[in-house]
Amino acid sequence: MRLPKAGTIEVVPSILSADFAKLAEELAEIESAGVKMVHIDVMDGHFVPNITVGPPVVAKLREHSKLVFDCHLMISEPAKYVERFFEAGANHITFHIEAADEPEKLIDKLHKLGCTAGICLNPETPVESIESVAALCDMVLVMTVHPGFGAQKFLAKAVKKVVAVRELVGAEIRVEVDGGIDPHTTPVVVSHGADTLVAGNAIFAKPDRVAAINAIREACR
Ligand code: DX5
Ligand code: ZN
Repeated sequence: MRLPKAGTIEVVPSILSADFAKLAEELAEIESAGVKMVHIDVMDGHFVPNITVGPPVVAKLREHSKLVFDCHLMISEPAKYVERFFEAGANHITFHIEAADEPEKLIDKLHKLGCTAGICLNPETPVESIESVAALCDMVLVMTVHPGFGAQKFLAKAVKKVVAVRELVGAEIRVEVDGGIDPHTTPVVVSHGADTLVAGNAIFAKPDRVAAINAIREACR
């Protein structure tokens, strides 16, 4: 279970909008749609004003799924917790540049653990802040909403940042977008360089998750 090599477009359902009482069933349903990855949002009530799940939930989900676990840590002091998420079953871990004192060291730590590494930028954080470390990562995550909650409106101004990040990292590193991604915003982000599309509300607020995933895929064409 590795992050797919860059060069393909991947729809990555975010379980933040799923039914938390039926997560194993939700994972099975999205797996049946042929997705390779699932996005797990970890919030600590400190870095963002919301609280979600920690390593014990990730470990239980691991028993039910072969999907690549893309863990998005919206937490302060990410370096303290990455081992625990890796041991629980995370395959890819993204941390926020705003929360990391020594991003280079943390990327190295993730790689030594055997995990791919991602760095994330909030909407108000300039691309320059990741300039020296982006190339060390396997994926860069551009927030297209303010982190903390699902079902928010896509921030159109983030598109410029997607372009700048793609220019910075080239074709070999994935550029992921997160927040407000649906069949309407998908063509915009894809045409500006995103290849990894996180979608929560656009998938899990729909009764037919498979059809919702296919609608996003269709929108890429
Ligand atoms: C927001 C999270 C997202 C969230 C996206 O802070 O990082 O992953 O699930 O949700 P939607 O797709 O509903 O905007
Ligand atoms: Zn996320």
